[in-house]
Amino acid sequence: MPRMPPPAFTVRPVNWQASREALRSVRRSVFIKEQKVPAALEWDDADENAYHVLAATRDGRPIGTGRLRLDCYIGRMAVVKQWRGRGVGSAILALLIDLAETEGCTELRLHSQTHALEFYSRFGFGPVGERFEEAGMPHQAMLLRLPPAPR
Ligand SMILES: CC(C)(COP(=O)(O)OP(=O)(O)OC[C@H]1O[C@@H](n2cnc3c(N)ncnc32)[C@H](O)[C@@H]1OP(=O)(O)O)[C@@H](O)C(=O)NCCC(=O)NCCS
Repeated sequence: MPRMPPPAFTVRPVNWQASREALRSVRRSVFIKEQKVPAALEWDDADENAYHVLAATRDGRPIGTGRLRLDCYIGRMAVVKQWRGRGVGSAILALLIDLAETEGCTELRLHSQTHALEFYSRFGFGPVGERFEEAGMPHQAMLLRLPPAPR
């Protein structure tokens, strides 16, 4: 029987305390260096209590992040430039949606940079309200209704 090649990357839920440096390195590279988001806006208190997802290469290099706040809000979706367009962001988002369902979220919200609207739409998120400016970039609020968790 032919063997499947091992996946190029892994995606897993991680704890902020244990994986803080890996998560921060991706966000620093994508948001602060590439997108010029001020560091003071990037780091907030929500990290301590949020669920985090980390994508890494087979040899353990961090390449992607996302977080789910306890108020059912997704944010900090980032994939390092060299790894974009290879399914890493989709794998992170799918896992965050699973986590939200397990946590009993019935609605999931996020603020999408407008270039990423199509990315989130593919997962069923729809736009809510007008576009607005956040961290110096145009954004759109988006909402996904989740089925109630089975009892
Ligand atoms: C948005 C982001 C996380 C997507 O990650 P990714 O690993 O490139 O996503 P995937 O490879 O899973 O993409 C899935 C699909 O969405 C599309 N897509 C991804 N990013 C897109 C974008 N910015 N604009 C339009 N389409 C996009 C891809 O083309 C892909 O389509 P395909 O399957 O037909 O090839 C990544 O582009 C990123 O980190 N961007 C910079 C930071 C950022 O803007 N974060 C979002 C904040 S709201």
